Amino acid sequence: MKGVVFNLLEEMVEQEFGLEVWESLLDATGQDGVFVSTETYTDEQLVSLVVAAHEKSGIPVNELIRSFGKFMFPRFHKTNPGFFKPDMTLKDFLLSVDQVIHVEVRKLHPGAGLPQFEYVDENDSELTMIYSSPRKMCMLAEGLVAGAAEHFETEYTLDHSECMHDGADACRLHLKFVA
Ligand code: HEM
Repeated sequence: MKGVVFNLLEEMVEQEFGLEVWESLLDATGQDGVFVSTETYTDEQLVSLVVAAHEKSGIPVNELIRSFGKFMFPRFHKTNPGFFKPDMTLKDFLLSVDQVIHVEVRKLHPGAGLPQFEYVDENDSELTMIYSSPRKMCMLAEGLVAGAAEHFETEYTLDHSECMHDGADACRLHLKFVA
């Protein structure tokens, strides 16, 4: 994971729980808290911070990761406005993540650990995103989708019908958009 992800996690924890909680998470996981945005750190470092946050707050790990994805989204929008085209719908945007956005991210940040999305474009108001990644961060994907939906002011329902955490090869995120 790139340092930028850790920087955003720090921002969220400090905003929600305060600086002393972030410092206690660093203590609990034996980390110094210096995360350079363009450097790569291990996935275990991120996971250990999230687990420590769960132990401290009692909030389930899945819920924390999902909230983190939702929190990240407006920051990604702010730092990368070029990915948001006028007249784009939420569905257009989600369809651009794999072949446009993450392709650019990979060019800018060699070594970024990015997932793969395949899509089933069911119809105007339905899209299935098939997520696969060795990191199995499908809850982060759910949170990013929630953040995107808020940005595009679009209501939706999500059915995470198959999940890598239950042994599936990939996660199926079936989205229905409410006009
Ligand atoms: C709703 C839209 C998006 C979804 C569902 C999505 C999904 C994900 C997920 C799940 C990961 C975690 C890594 C993994 O699972 O293997 C990830 C990583 C990442 N994504 Fe996206 N993403 C979205 C939009 C964006 C946007 C708008 C940007 C902005 C440039 C972006 C940049 C990144 C970066 C920088 C990483 C981290 C790479 C690393 O730490 O090594 N994503 N994305």
